[in-house]
Amino acid sequence: MDQTNSQFRLGSARPGTPVGLVVRAVGCAILLALCHLPAVAQAGLFPPDRPPQPGPLNLTTVPLPVNLSEFVADMQAAKVLGKALFWDMQLGSDGLACASCHFQAGADNRVVNQLNPQFRAVDSSLQGVWYKPASKLSGGVVSEVGGGPNYKLTAKDFPTHKLSDPNNRNSNVIYDSPNIVSSQGVFRYDYIHGAGNSSNTITGLGDVPRDNCREVLSPVFSIKGVNARQVEPRNSPTVINAIYYFRNFWDGRASNIFNGRNPFGWRDPSAGIDPANSVLVAAANGDLKPYPVNLSDSSLASQAVGPPGSDLEMSCKGRLFEEIGVKMLPLKPLSSGQEVSSTDSMLGPYAAKPYGMNVTYAALVRKAFQPKFWNSSKRSVDGYTQIQKNFSLFFGLAVMLYEATLVSDQSPFDKQMNGVVGAMSLEAQRGFQVFMGNGGCIFCHKGAEFTGAGTSLRLNSQLGGLVEYMLMGEGAPALYDSGFYNIGVRSPGEDLGLGESDPWGNPLSFTRQVKAAYAANPDLGLNNPGMATIGLGVDRFNLYPCNFQVSPCTQLSGSTRDAIDGNFKVPTLRNVELTGPYFHNGGQATLEQVVQFYNRGGDSVGSAANNSSGWGANPSNLPPAIFPLFLTSNEQADLVAFLKSLTDERVRWERAPFDHPSLTIPNGHPVSGSTLVVKSGSINAKDNFITLPAIGKAGRSTTQGPLLPFSSGLK
Ligand code: HEC
Ligand code: HEC
Repeated sequence: MDQTNSQFRLGSARPGTPVGLVVRAVGCAILLALCHLPAVAQAGLFPPDRPPQPGPLNLTTVPLPVNLSEFVADMQAAKVLGKALFWDMQLGSDGLACASCHFQAGADNRVVNQLNPQFRAVDSSLQGVWYKPASKLSGGVVSEVGGGPNYKLTAKDFPTHKLSDPNNRNSNVIYDSPNIVSSQGVFRYDYIHGAGNSSNTITGLGDVPRDNCREVLSPVFSIKGVNARQVEPRNSPTVINAIYYFRNFWDGRASNIFNGRNPFGWRDPSAGIDPANSVLVAAANGDLKPYPVNLSDSSLASQAVGPPGSDLEMSCKGRLFEEIGVKMLPLKPLSSGQEVSSTDSMLGPYAAKPYGMNVTYAALVRKAFQPKFWNSSKRSVDGYTQIQKNFSLFFGLAVMLYEATLVSDQSPFDKQMNGVVGAMSLEAQRGFQVFMGNGGCIFCHKGAEFTGAGTSLRLNSQLGGLVEYMLMGEGAPALYDSGFYNIGVRSPGEDLGLGESDPWGNPLSFTRQVKAAYAANPDLGLNNPGMATIGLGVDRFNLYPCNFQVSPCTQLSGSTRDAIDGNFKVPTLRNVELTGPYFHNGGQATLEQVVQFYNRGGDSVGSAANNSSGWGANPSNLPPAIFPLFLTSNEQADLVAFLKSLTDERVRWERAPFDHPSLTIPNGHPVSGSTLVVKSGSINAKDNFITLPAIGKAGRSTTQGPLLPFSSGLK
């Protein structure tokens, strides 16, 4: 999606015309011989920054912080700790592990109680509103077609924006549901501080401990006074290959910089300064003092410290990370009813019978991390031991180092790229041509990672670095964060994505930080041709919005418009066959539906210059590569075959490193008449559970069978 000066002129010569179309047509006319390449590259408009070509993933370095050894003493022990923490049901306040929502090829394929009613809508009156088709508006509260808590999805619910002609975005809308298909988390509870660990265990979950919490009725996730589990407001992405992203989450809010405490990196002004909100080490006099943690390329560590305290995902409201440390450190990992295979590729050497591991979390932390972070005998001002206080640091780094092993680089595509002729089917090879050519997918799903949001693509290796500009439908340029686009899945008002702000009111978007810096100081050089460098945003990165060979920057200014609202991170396409449903709203069940979405130019309504992807003063946020593609049905089928050639068989069969302990996860609630069956002495519904077996390094047996796509679980 990088735009150059010549493209800029091409587009502005024909105002109102989708730029991509013009460029494609001209490119093909000039260089017929190269028409299988992206047309913009054909016309020579990209040198030297043509989109990085896809290649085998094994040649791409796994990005990790350079100063890891400042913290980590034993890498293998840290990975073992991370894998145990990721799969442990003891972590959540009521039995949820990280893996409870990331268990199927790193994602979630459950179909009951997985709907959220727009918690991220800008207009608060739309938050919590359940979608129901007109025919179901009266009655039918439980598991009836039409949404609501505990709803069971069917194939008919997809895509959630359904058209009479799926290849024509202007055809009749059959129905349109703004509800999001996501993942069920905890019931609504308030945490009771200081009550210690509860002796209660979770009904139906063996001896998994439950935190001391107060039950609270959720007005949204309940039926007739009985709580269902709450559901997240965005679809769960896969954790496999997530190590390659510069920033994580759909909106990029998990900072590239890890501050040791929370997802916000430099944005949190008190981390490393306020003793209550810092990693602590001993000062010269022995007292514990704040230690500034500054780990770059650590977005997964930033990400990991979010869910354990989230009152939608895993936790009773208000639970502190120190309190999680108090609970977890004395425990043996996975010891509450989770089996660990003796051949588990990482946990095997520690496997205990019948359950869990033969070591405590505290022992693993002491093995994995440098002593200065845990060996003080002093207490913090708020009364915790050092190892408890620094638990967020250990947790974030350990989980990240485990996730860094979840790299899938042995797909048929990788094999073909590494010289194994015929590893990809002919259909998939043709599909690759569509991907690179008429489909234009390569403009955003770049490189071996198949995402422009990858760390290896940032800065000088990617035109424009973290901030770029493109030519919009109305013929004017817009700045945007590279690797984040609004492709017209839903209207920005339902979820601003990258357009949201952090808890301190700063924009998540790098672009908006650049614009603010230029507005405050025009001398920074936005009007100068060539490179401008600033590092003044809250993320404190060097940004090169004007890093172009030619000088379109002379046409930009601090008031140049941005295209940020409704933008979401470009997800990797590796293993996408197994990670449905798709998009940030989980609105598509199959890859065929996704390809139809692109073929019709997305779901935004209106012209290229002015359509429903717009927000505020901006008439459109749609990137120029999103427009009707007019692919034949054969080309569409080939494209799907290509996407399926990105599946690593080790992921499909859960072979090492994708093997795992057994795990029991909630899967909706039992129903009686038109209500949920309540637990005795509780306002919460009973859970239905499914148990995933422990898998050793050799993977699933043929009797267990391979992982299947999401759509195979829909009736
Ligand atoms: C209740 C379900 C749930 C639980 C439990 C959960 N997650 Fe997630 N996870 C999600 C959802 C939903 C998102 C997307 C949120 C967003 O982008 O706003 C997500 C996003 C992520 C991402 C970002 C991937 C990307 O492409 O941006 C990673 C990594 C991840 N989770 C890891 C974890 C870890 C580690 C834990 C445990 C500490 C965890 N998750 C617990 C549901 C869950
Ligand atoms: C303009 C940039 C852009 C182009 C071009 C593009 N994509 Fe995407 N793609 C994205 C973004 C951004 C998302 C996430 C959008 C969202 O959820 O709102 C996405 C999501 C997807 C997903 C869903 C993945 C998941 O885990 O949910 C698939 C599959 C996909 N794209 C395939 C394709 C194919 C095939 C093409 C070419 C026909 C293509 N994309 C072209 C930016 C792009």
